[in-house]
Amino acid sequence: MGRVAGKKAFITGGAQGLGACFGKMLADEGARVVLTDINVQGAQETAAAINKTHANAALALSHDVTRKDDWERALASAAEFLGGIDILINNAGIGTAGSIETETYENWRRVQEIDVDSIFVGTQLAMPYLKDSQPASIINISSVAGLVADGMMLSYNAAKAAVWMMTKSIALHCARSGYDIRCNSVHPVFTRTPIIDPLVQMGGGGEEGERRLVQQIPWKRLAEPEDVGYAIVYLASDESRYVTASEFKIDGGITAQ
Ligand SMILES: NC(=O)c1ccc[n+]([C@@H]2O[C@H](COP(=O)([O-])OP(=O)(O)OC[C@H]3O[C@@H](n4cnc5c(N)ncnc54)[C@H](O)[C@@H]3O)[C@@H](O)[C@H]2O)c1
Repeated sequence: MGRVAGKKAFITGGAQGLGACFGKMLADEGARVVLTDINVQGAQETAAAINKTHANAALALSHDVTRKDDWERALASAAEFLGGIDILINNAGIGTAGSIETETYENWRRVQEIDVDSIFVGTQLAMPYLKDSQPASIINISSVAGLVADGMMLSYNAAKAAVWMMTKSIALHCARSGYDIRCNSVHPVFTRTPIIDPLVQMGGGGEEGERRLVQQIPWKRLAEPEDVGYAIVYLASDESRYVTASEFKIDGGITAQ
């Protein structure tokens, strides 16, 4: 038996990077997964790769997390394919580089819309599905940037800190309502996915750009997507049945400094 055998997962931003990795790891442990993304071709490729080894385990859906109508349609299609939804992974996200003096209001709004507003809208719409499929688990992908600040990450710091605290509010509401629905946040450090490419470029690109990121991490390497995925499998599984309103740092020690 897999650790999440029979579970039904809805994963946003599932075309590449962390979301694609979560889909693969959950399917390897027995779950069926729906991968949603604005990059529907990427999501389809990821779903096809999963289905090669786990027949009919994955479905890709076109879904812009900033659109309420997209959420309604994607959740309904996913529930039909999966036979309900008991794991919601709010993973889609973007970041911008900018300080209080250089960040544009347009960038600020875009980051809040994709990283924060989407979790409010999507989780609210997903609640009836999760209530119908208890025990359920909501996993919000925040960042170490939600816990510690950087002068050049104004919009992203604010967004990921909001995700951290929203997680606790959702968790407390569910617990006090008597729902068997847990809600936790995950806070990765720099992880080897396309989202860090601009940071590597800012540090000079290539090995030098990567070295500048790595030197900030006590563990002295970038995180790999699987390093984060192991936390996701745990939080999606019933092994974490008593864990709610918690933050999981997958950070190589960076926030301890
Ligand atoms: N990689 C890291 O270093 C790192 C560290 C901490 C937190 N995170 C967080 O992890 C999550 C996943 O990031 P990743 O590293 O896999 O990045 P990524 O850029 O590789 O993947 C993000 C995915 O989100 C999708 N997306 C963007 N806007 C969307 C929208 N409006 N609707 C639907 N999908 C949309 C993209 O198409 C992409 O497939 C993000 O929330 C990110 O902030 C990443």
